[in-house]
Amino acid sequence: MEYRYMQPGEKPLVDALQKKHKITAEFHSRWTLWRNWDSRPPLLAWDGNNIAGLYAYAFTKSGYVNSYYIWVDIPYQGKGIAGGLVNFMLQEAAKAGVMRYKSRMPTGKDGEAFWRGFGVRPCGWIPQLDEQLYDYYIGGVTNIQEFIANAATSNDLPTTDKRSLSHYKRLGVVFTDSHWLHLNA
Ligand SMILES: CC(C)(COP(=O)(O)OP(=O)(O)OC[C@H]1O[C@@H](n2cnc3c(N)ncnc32)[C@H](O)[C@@H]1OP(=O)(O)O)[C@@H](O)C(=O)NCCC(=O)NCCS
Repeated sequence: MEYRYMQPGEKPLVDALQKKHKITAEFHSRWTLWRNWDSRPPLLAWDGNNIAGLYAYAFTKSGYVNSYYIWVDIPYQGKGIAGGLVNFMLQEAAKAGVMRYKSRMPTGKDGEAFWRGFGVRPCGWIPQLDEQLYDYYIGGVTNIQEFIANAATSNDLPTTDKRSLSHYKRLGVVFTDSHWLHLNA
């Protein structure tokens, strides 16, 4: 399996993925709406000329990786490909000096099970959307093994990023992790 970012000439192949899953369709319309195709091309897992998986994320100026959409095609699932995509992202994040990971996931769905498999825990819950919020420290993490080793303590340092905190307030986040509870006040 080869992991690399989409090249502009490969966009038609990524366009065709819209039919595959709710997630790939949602990803496609969001990337178009946010004009992200050139600035933040998705990471792809290639099996020869076939796209086996996709991971759409963005590094922000405030030192976050915003993790949006991860998807692996059904015949390829359960073989560690999503893990490989995350590993690639972490290597890139370390190079870019990214210190925190942020994501939102519907409670009880595939995505939540996948991330929890690494031992990471959500810091909060969004009652109106029934989504779990993940926001954790990944400073010093350069690959997936370190990510897993870091998971147990990753929530110990709540974010101090004012933009994120006011965004969470607007979303109505209820912090559930013990290290974050004081932020509910
Ligand atoms: C969620 C999804 C992306 C997982 O893809 P996958 O390639 O089958 O996942 P992997 O084989 O990499 O991971 C399977 C398991 O191995 C673990 N794993 C993967 N790589 C690992 C590694 N290098 N070391 C240790 N564990 C690893 C994962 O934590 C996961 O654990 P779990 O079985 O407890 O959940 C896939 O099921 C999918 O596309 N679902 C539909 C779309 C979707 O719901 N996306 C998520 C939206 S946020």
